Amino acid sequence: DSPVPTMASARLKYLSLGVLVFQTTSLVLTMRYSRTLQAEGPRYLASSAVVVAEVMKILACVVLVFKEHSYSMRALNSILRQEILHKPVETLKLAIPSGIYTLQNNLLYVALSNLDAATYQVTYQLKILTTALFSVSMLGRRLGVYQWLSLLILMAGVALVQVRLNQLQRRVNPSASGMQSSQFVGVTAVLVACCSSGFAGVYFEKILKESKQSVWIRNIQLGMFGFVFGLFGMLAYDGERVRESGMFQGYNTITWTVVALQALGGLVIAAVIKYADNILKGFATSLSIILSTLISYFLLQDFDPSSVFFLGAVLVITATFLYGYEGKPSANPSRA
Ligand code: C5P
Repeated sequence: DSPVPTMASARLKYLSLGVLVFQTTSLVLTMRYSRTLQAEGPRYLASSAVVVAEVMKILACVVLVFKEHSYSMRALNSILRQEILHKPVETLKLAIPSGIYTLQNNLLYVALSNLDAATYQVTYQLKILTTALFSVSMLGRRLGVYQWLSLLILMAGVALVQVRLNQLQRRVNPSASGMQSSQFVGVTAVLVACCSSGFAGVYFEKILKESKQSVWIRNIQLGMFGFVFGLFGMLAYDGERVRESGMFQGYNTITWTVVALQALGGLVIAAVIKYADNILKGFATSLSIILSTLISYFLLQDFDPSSVFFLGAVLVITATFLYGYEGKPSANPSRA
């Protein structure tokens, strides 16, 4: 790591963050749209979309490695052999984050089939908390007062958003005491995804930082396992339907857009981990929350925000910025 960032790497950092804001916002909205508003014909299988996104991601990474080696087929062939086939232990290490990401990618479809885009995104910000906890326990990172404080604010914010969910639910069905079952399923899916996102993200970061390997090669290794796990998941969960109508049943332009955005996400997140860091990744997601809430409200009319929701969302976003605040402007360079 060079201590003084060059102009080019600073540009790549903000470019990757900008693309992440765009990618997160469009993925959440198109995924929600594809799971709910579209009525005609059979709905595509989410488990199949996860597999197709992995294939796209692997292809894109192979092209990037090809480019890194001046478009030489021979060099591409030898680097893939050398780094993937001839280092089975290194390759196997990626099976762990990959399996967890595959589960997570499937859970996100469950979440967005049951929750509106804004509630989903704000609740999913709890992954900042899990990422912090895993960074402390697995990478030995130390957090400052502002960072712990911001995590408390984050939890308060997410709790407020959940309060609004319950209020809305009681208005629809006054006799119900808890959450509607679909909301319960959605929220549970998001909470499990928060744990997996934190663990897999930190694990991937650990692997990246322990070696000098190109991030695209790492992503190919990750994607290969993702493809295998995803395929098993699809056959186990939707096997019968796949045998009846094929894995591409219900695919249309929107589905392909969702899949392409999901694949793009894998590339951008890897780039953000490389050129920026996980804290900045949190900033980008918070910006994307503001954007998708506004779009969800004005364009899709999918969501009825209340003042409690807004207060919750403001707390979550404040927390994200507060989390990134400490460390950079600090005068005493006491580092862990
Ligand atoms: O929400 P979160 O940041 O955990 O999302 C991570 C997403 O990025 C997952 O869909 C995961 O499959 C993908 N990813 C990837 N390659 C990486 C890291 C994450 O495709 N190197």
